[in-house]
Amino acid sequence: QLQVYSAGKKSEIPVRFEDLEKLAHDQLEEGPFYYIAGGAGSERSMNENRLAFDKWKIVPRMLRNVAERDISINLFGKTYHSPILFAPIGVQSIAHPEGELEAARAAAELNIPYITSTASTYSLEKVSTVLGNSPKWYQLYCSSDMEIAASMIKRAEANGYEAIVITLDTSIMGWREKDIENAYLPFLQGQGIGNYLEDPVFRSRLNKSPEEDPQSAILLWTRLFGNPALTWEDLAFLRNQTKLPILLKGILHKDDAMLALEYGMDGIIVSNHGGRQVDGTISTLDALESICSELKGKLPILMDSGIRRGSDVYKALAIGADAVLIGRPYMYGLALAGKNGVVQVMKNMLADFDLTMALSGQKSISELKPSLLVKENLSKH
Ligand code: FNR
Repeated sequence: QLQVYSAGKKSEIPVRFEDLEKLAHDQLEEGPFYYIAGGAGSERSMNENRLAFDKWKIVPRMLRNVAERDISINLFGKTYHSPILFAPIGVQSIAHPEGELEAARAAAELNIPYITSTASTYSLEKVSTVLGNSPKWYQLYCSSDMEIAASMIKRAEANGYEAIVITLDTSIMGWREKDIENAYLPFLQGQGIGNYLEDPVFRSRLNKSPEEDPQSAILLWTRLFGNPALTWEDLAFLRNQTKLPILLKGILHKDDAMLALEYGMDGIIVSNHGGRQVDGTISTLDALESICSELKGKLPILMDSGIRRGSDVYKALAIGADAVLIGRPYMYGLALAGKNGVVQVMKNMLADFDLTMALSGQKSISELKPSLLVKENLSKH
């Protein structure tokens, strides 16, 4: 906390999320801003993600010696010193010319897990080099060409990624009204396909190299990128490609969480993609509650969508998440101040979370439990 206050100079970027988003809006073009900020349809899911946090109240405990606190977590046998991870976000070049490389520099400086997206502007190899020994996971959008999916997993493994996150909720893009109005889809201009362009199997499917004929590469990418035909049975093929832990991202139904366990997955990420895919979904915090009631302790359960402050992290972990991911906040930091902006956003979130722990009488994440919260019955008001 002292570090935060006594850095000696005014913060380069706003500390309040609302101001951060507003400033990003002022500085980015309409297309990129709404691509980042927007949600599906009426944006009800995106808003519900936030409202769900307001239903829960923290009930602090006193006199528990919280002078020393430990916010590290253990996942897949490894200690990570932050319970907050960088969510996989594609096409970060729309926020900053060096996009993922710049965000990865921030993650490496903080030594906090960074999840490289399949839709990264820069190849997973380049991002890995920037990350160095800092923790890194790879997020897979399973191609409709399974050999490409397998190739991406192999490349990730060969480049030191420690886990594979398979995102299930975006085999097709959601109905994003602002992006449709703005006719803005960065991939169609060839942004965010760099990781594909460097994939040897993808390249082998092209008649001419992407350097010679970029349009054909983009066209093929649009055909191969998503796989709406994917089923639970296909997971066996992906499972066989690697010994790394596999997490399924985009789980909302508790029966799917059970299936993930049944199909030998190593973890799940409860997520509605930041409210960007299905309009009117359950909030991720409500989904988390329902999933944790059945599965807590049986496999790691991570969550994202709507985390904006330290108290949100505290609530999610107390309900039962083993870790959380943040998305848009760090994209705004990236847009406004590159690496330093991302570092600042994450440091603020961690400091705020650590303070919330201290002031609520908790000194380690393993102590967080649902009885430290009450859920308000909103119908009372
Ligand atoms: C995303 N998200 C995402 N998820 C994923 O698995 N692969 C990806 O390439 C992307 N790309 C992406 C782009 C942008 C601009 C956004 C905002 C989000 C979803 C992301 O991982 C995460 O689930 C949400 O961002 C979490 O919600 P908040 O923190 O943004 O509310």
